[in-house]
Amino acid sequence: MTTPLADTVSIADLISLRGRTAVIVGSAQGIGAATARRYAEAGANLILADLNLEAAEALASELAAKFDTDITAHWVDVSDEEAVGKLAEAAVERTGRLDVWVNFTHYSPMGREEIVESEEFPMLTWKRSLDVNLTGCYLGARAAARAMIAAGNGGVIINTTSTVTDRYPGHAGMLGYASSKGGIEQLTMILAAELGKRGIRALALKPTVIDTPGVNEHLEAVEEASGRKLGTFEDSMPMRRYGKPDEVARVALFAASDMSAFMTGSILTVDGGELTI
Ligand SMILES: NC(=O)c1ccc[n+]([C@@H]2O[C@H](COP(=O)([O-])OP(=O)(O)OC[C@H]3O[C@@H](n4cnc5c(N)ncnc54)[C@H](O)[C@@H]3O)[C@@H](O)[C@H]2O)c1
Repeated sequence: MTTPLADTVSIADLISLRGRTAVIVGSAQGIGAATARRYAEAGANLILADLNLEAAEALASELAAKFDTDITAHWVDVSDEEAVGKLAEAAVERTGRLDVWVNFTHYSPMGREEIVESEEFPMLTWKRSLDVNLTGCYLGARAAARAMIAAGNGGVIINTTSTVTDRYPGHAGMLGYASSKGGIEQLTMILAAELGKRGIRALALKPTVIDTPGVNEHLEAVEEASGRKLGTFEDSMPMRRYGKPDEVARVALFAASDMSAFMTGSILTVDGGELTI
């Protein structure tokens, strides 16, 4: 992988993903979809992977009509080893390379039986949280690293954690989710330590509450299960609001591009100041 010298490369070229291939897992909606828009604008060839193939296909068609890059959709269950392996292969088959692998999937508790404190926490929810959130990142990183090493261009693996690893969110049900996100931070650091010599960087995005379909569904489920209204949290944030998907997508673009060429193993907090208070 060539490392551009800061004083010889324009800012436009540093932020560009032109000619690179990115797999975005969990891209049918929310932060993943916003990131797909920014990566397409930056010129990347994209594989939009999701459980919800119909929505991923709709986004792929919309972006392919707007940007001059190769954009396709691909079904994946990120906790399925075989399916994740096939996704990495499909990216390389389609474009001959794999430069960026980003994972935005998650399992968050939704049912009344899941919005409970630690002593009641169900085994099934624990397992699902680890399978989708942590094992999904491990399987994706492993498949991506193998494909990147074979292609010989280096690359970037980006995982998504959450500010919940630093701060109890104030409601029950988070044992599995928060534990899996803590694991993702450790995973990212080991990936960085071991893959750096191959020219592969590993970073993690760490958002606070971002206004997405996924988080809204989860917060509604918490309110229903607990019988109490949430909603004071926004007022206690330094910036007095939650984030927007594109505000995380911009950091995801920074992470994928040569703007962050000398960063690996870092956790990029996008929290409107939440963790400062
Ligand atoms: N939105 C927030 O407030 C917030 C806060 C902190 C961290 N995060 C993290 O950011 C990431 C994106 O969050 P979001 O709110 O945009 O999510 P979202 O729920 O809106 O979208 C997630 C996408 O992942 C897909 N998906 C879920 N399980 C999958 C699986 N097993 N295989 C393949 N695809 C699957 C869904 O179909 C969906 O398209 C997640 O990792 C989440 O934990 C979000």
